[in-house]
Amino acid sequence: MRAKARIIIFTMALAALPAIASGGIGDIKFDDKIASMKKAGVGPVIFPHGKHEKTNKCNDCHPKIFKDKRGENNISMKLNMDGKFCGSPNCHNSPKAFPLFQCASCHTGVSAAKK
Ligand code: HEC
Ligand code: HEC
Repeated sequence: MRAKARIIIFTMALAALPAIASGGIGDIKFDDKIASMKKAGVGPVIFPHGKHEKTNKCNDCHPKIFKDKRGENNISMKLNMDGKFCGSPNCHNSPKAFPLFQCASCHTGVSAAKK
């Protein structure tokens, strides 16, 4: 009886493991700066967290580049271009990833002129 309960708990813990180990976070929508984005003719950013988890380690980004809390980073394009956040060395300011001037690769709703 006791052994059985232990096996069940162990199995449940195992099942939960991948979700914890992988972060299990899907797409994150960035639209805090929507007014400024509208002015510049671009829409919100859909950040594929899951995809970034596959090509980087958690601590490549957290906590050095991004605090791991929704909305706590105050990202702007100026800071991106200054080599912070998405534009950090080895990221979208390096040959490892598409460059920052490809607005439409991050922003939705980019007008033809800005693509
Ligand atoms: C390429 C960089 C990058 C990598 C790699 C990365 N994250 Fe994140 N993570 C982010 C960004 C950006 C956010 C959003 C922060 C914000 O909202 O300002 C975030 C958010 C989070 C959050 C907050 C979610 C919420 O709803 O508050 C957690 C927790 C987190 N990440 C954990 C992880 C774990 C665990 C891994 C590794 C499996 C990981 N991250 C890998 C960039 C990354
Ligand atoms: C690598 C991804 C990425 C690329 C490429 C990118 N952006 Fe952004 N951009 C972001 C993120 C992330 C934010 C922060 C959004 C938020 O927190 O609301 C942002 C915010 C903005 C904002 C609002 C904040 C501010 O700084 O005024 C504007 C405007 C903007 N981007 C314009 C552009 C334009 C124009 C381009 C192309 C020249 C571009 N972005 C390319 C990721 C990107």
